[in-house]
Amino acid sequence: MNKLNKTLLLALAAAFLFIGCGEDEEPDPDPDPVGVMGLPASINGFDTWLKMNAETIPLKEEVPHKGTKEVYVNQTRETLAPNGEQVFPYPDGTIIVKAGTGEGLDFLSFVAIMTKKAGAVEEANDWIFVKYARESADADFMKVGEGPPGGEGCIGCHMAAAETDYSFTVLE
Ligand code: HEC
Repeated sequence: MNKLNKTLLLALAAAFLFIGCGEDEEPDPDPDPVGVMGLPASINGFDTWLKMNAETIPLKEEVPHKGTKEVYVNQTRETLAPNGEQVFPYPDGTIIVKAGTGEGLDFLSFVAIMTKKAGAVEEANDWIFVKYARESADADFMKVGEGPPGGEGCIGCHMAAAETDYSFTVLE
């Protein structure tokens, strides 16, 4: 290999290293592994969890999750409503999943998730908010909404449900 080629190779290697360690690409210290359909692994099998709503929630113009929806929680009825009446706040580790079918579609097209993690988000009683969506029935979901430190746009509206620990939907 002549000297010029070597220099080129070195320059290329340096460029790759540089791209690989971009300063603003801090690795997420606590990444949620990817599960089925590109959704977080923490919600695998969510449609077998306890369903909170009795009837499918209809599309509402004022709610940004446009479509029909079901809301699931990874807790038992016994835990949430020990004496038949729901108690608040939700326990640490609770995950509430809203699964929606967008207007005019016939497949699961968006999934909004609230995860309660002790110490995570002071202003939203430790709920982390994130939303995923996909364009077609065989596409993977992509993250479409969240915000520092836990979904600001989400929290701003969900604050209206502070009395029921930030979840509008209660166990029915
Ligand atoms: C303008 C108000 C508004 C905004 C903004 C909003 N939501 Fe909601 N969200 C609602 C309402 C109202 C419900 C109750 C169910 C329904 O009608 O869809 C709801 C339901 C949910 C639920 C099921 C639990 C519950 O509260 O009923 C989750 C999870 C959720 N939203 C996540 C999110 C995430 C994540 C974001 C941000 C990307 C977000 N929401 C932004 C109004 C909002």
